[in-house]
Amino acid sequence: MLMCLSSTYEVWQQNVAVCRFLILLVLCQVACCAKIPGLYDEPRLPATITPFHYDIRMITHLENPANHKYNGFVNISLHAQKTTNQVVLHVAGVSIETKKIRLYGETSDFKLTTVKFNKKRDYMVVTFDQPLWLGKSYVLSIEFGRSMTKKLEDGYFLRHYVNAKTSEKIWYSISHFNRNLIRNTLPSFDEPGLRATFNVTMGHHKRFQSYSNMNVRAVLPNYDIQDYVWSVHEVTPSMSTHLLAFSVNNFTCRFTQAASANPVRFRTCSQSSNVRETGFVAEKAPQLLEFLDNLLKVSLPLEKIDQLVVDDFPTEDHSTKDLGLVVYHSKQILQREDGPMTRSKSLALQRIAHGMAHMWFGNLLGIDWWSDLWLTEGLTGYFETLAMDHLEPGMARRLQLRNRETSFMYESEVGGVSLVSFWPLASPEVEKHLYQKATALIGMVNGFLGNATFYDGLQRHLWQNSFASSTPDLFWRSLQLASERESVLSKNWDVRSVMDTWTRKSGYPLVTVIRNGNNVVLMQGHALNRSRTDLWWIPLTYTIDGEAFPGDLKPRAWLTPHQNRQQLDEIVPLNQWILLNLRAVGYYRVNYDEHTWQLLAATLIEDFRSIHVLNRAQIVSDIIFLWKQELVSWSTAFNVLRYIIDEDEYEPLMALVVGVTNGLWGISPDSALSIAKWLGVAGRWYAEFISYTFDKFVVKSPNLNSLDYPD
Ligand SMILES: *[C@@H]1O[C@H](CO)[C@@H](O)[C@H](O)[C@H]1NC(C)=O
Ligand SMILES: *[C@@H]1O[C@H](CO)[C@@H](O)[C@H](O)[C@H]1NC(C)=O
Ligand SMILES: *[C@@H]1O[C@H](CO)[C@@H](O)[C@H](O)[C@H]1NC(C)=O
Ligand SMILES: *[C@@H]1O[C@H](CO)[C@@H](O)[C@H](O)[C@H]1NC(C)=O
Ligand SMILES: *[C@@H]1O[C@H](CO)[C@@H](O)[C@H](O)[C@H]1NC(C)=O
Ligand SMILES: [Zn+2]
Repeated sequence: MLMCLSSTYEVWQQNVAVCRFLILLVLCQVACCAKIPGLYDEPRLPATITPFHYDIRMITHLENPANHKYNGFVNISLHAQKTTNQVVLHVAGVSIETKKIRLYGETSDFKLTTVKFNKKRDYMVVTFDQPLWLGKSYVLSIEFGRSMTKKLEDGYFLRHYVNAKTSEKIWYSISHFNRNLIRNTLPSFDEPGLRATFNVTMGHHKRFQSYSNMNVRAVLPNYDIQDYVWSVHEVTPSMSTHLLAFSVNNFTCRFTQAASANPVRFRTCSQSSNVRETGFVAEKAPQLLEFLDNLLKVSLPLEKIDQLVVDDFPTEDHSTKDLGLVVYHSKQILQREDGPMTRSKSLALQRIAHGMAHMWFGNLLGIDWWSDLWLTEGLTGYFETLAMDHLEPGMARRLQLRNRETSFMYESEVGGVSLVSFWPLASPEVEKHLYQKATALIGMVNGFLGNATFYDGLQRHLWQNSFASSTPDLFWRSLQLASERESVLSKNWDVRSVMDTWTRKSGYPLVTVIRNGNNVVLMQGHALNRSRTDLWWIPLTYTIDGEAFPGDLKPRAWLTPHQNRQQLDEIVPLNQWILLNLRAVGYYRVNYDEHTWQLLAATLIEDFRSIHVLNRAQIVSDIIFLWKQELVSWSTAFNVLRYIIDEDEYEPLMALVVGVTNGLWGISPDSALSIAKWLGVAGRWYAEFISYTFDKFVVKSPNLNSLDYPD
């Protein structure tokens, strides 16, 4: 018999009995681990039953440090998409009162037959004596609970702070359900595409307050437990299960407001000793939200956003950015409001911008499955840079270039990554780089479509898919329709085929420019491995010596996957250079013939400002890469890089530092020799460069207190 013979609910109330309950549970789990033939074992939940509403009522006990625990009930409203007498859902690290599982239908009275667990896949498989009928709705009622610890993996866990005066530990609870952790807290259908509304009622001691995605609608007395109350939250919009969030604490809050089209109230809360330094996030978050609201023109259906700033989040990479509730790690976010913009303040601002952008991408707009996460993270990363730029002009340019450079560097190191073949993910490190690539690709789409088309497509996509799941295909489709609305002329490309070449292939292309008299021929190949035959749809933007730098980034030509070389229509006299990939928004590198490199080098020395700063950075980055790949000689590389002694902007210098330092790691003896030779020739210059950079950027500039190396 595999059903857990668990004790009754009253047992929870008594500590001694709780132990007995846990022992029973352990025995029961041992029994559950045996392989059961015929037990549901697919990687995804069956499509037979889908949830649409959760009523959650739970109590969190934080007073007795020896016995921190929560317990509760959940009623999950379900649709039967097929007739079946089995319900499969996620349950992992939480105890279930299996005997008390109930199913309510309109008419029938269901009897539980078996409850089985597939431990490997975190499934609970519940079978009833009669079927749930196709098209009908049901309510599944489950009792659950657990003792609480500080473990992040529990999904819902404890933190504490120390009262400085009394040295007393003050405990609070917080959730972090990001990806597959909610199943450790309560039984749920834990897949991103299974969206539902949530009605959360949290019981707690009256000293505390309850925080969740939505506002507290009412606080009602709890007649069963002395000094306890029920905080009844408003019902959430339809959202992915892992976006549910809650916390019970007695933090102190600041109040601010975003004057967006649909005003959003902000409450920023922390332990009282941190309140002085929460002013920064309390003030900046609404400004960033307002900016994004204006830009995206899609209002959030939210009245409030709560921001909790907590010490001691288990790892620094984690923060929670759920609909209406954001949790930050205090070390990363606490800042003085006055004083200059320092590097750590700038990083804090970036984290806040990331959290605010997630309200649209990831929360309002969801995904069907984790393998599409790069789409919402890529959009978030891109809009994070634009929002940053609003408060710190120039930051978008800098962050976008940094993204691109870091992503290029990572792809070279590992031989290329593709966005689509990447689930389950190997590590947070890989994941970070994946999203950097996605962000760079979103920038490229914005570039080749132009602002009008890109925003038209994006806005309609947000309107149409709010509170639903998006996929890359649907997103490209929205952009395609926008591009068709913009111009009736049919193009020889469509957004989806273009972008599929970038998201599905690993690595990125190298475009090679060949001058043939006054004609220019362009060739494409794989930048990281010349034996590979991959071909991309490459938007080509360029400018010719003497032309004004174009304001927009619409391609003047395309390289297609149908042929690997193409001649441009333009005539370019041999004594003039041509420069490709304006503002470096294309995710590719460019190599020129020796003659053009020399023309570019001469222009850089004469008047480097005549070339856009992002293209200077691109030239620096590309030439170092090409030299390492032995596609240009060190004397060509050196000649092009020579101008940098006069460079006074951040982006080209960063490209140099990234290129050179990366080149010095794990070098082969051959290239070590040429680096030594290069540095020998450049030695004097290099020393000057370092001290110049140091003076200029580290000592004097109020805006940059250190060179901003990629993380
Ligand atoms: C779940 O449904 C049952 C039966 O309708 C009801 O008695 C119970 O109060 C509900 N629980 C919650 C948490 O809504
Ligand atoms: C939400 O839960 C509360 C308390 O259990 C209940 O009174 C209310 O009717 C529920 N609202 C909805 C929309 O389910
Ligand atoms: C939070 O609760 C602790 C313990 O009861 C108490 O000492 C502290 O003053 C409370 N803080 C606030 C801001 O209410
Ligand atoms: C380069 O690509 C070729 C053809 O796809 C492949 O056989 C080879 O292993 C690759 N080389 C490296 C170093 O990855
Ligand atoms: C497109 O929008 C961006 C940011 O909103 C702006 O910096 C850029 O100048 C715009 N480009 C064009 C061609 O209008
Ligand atoms: Zn994110």
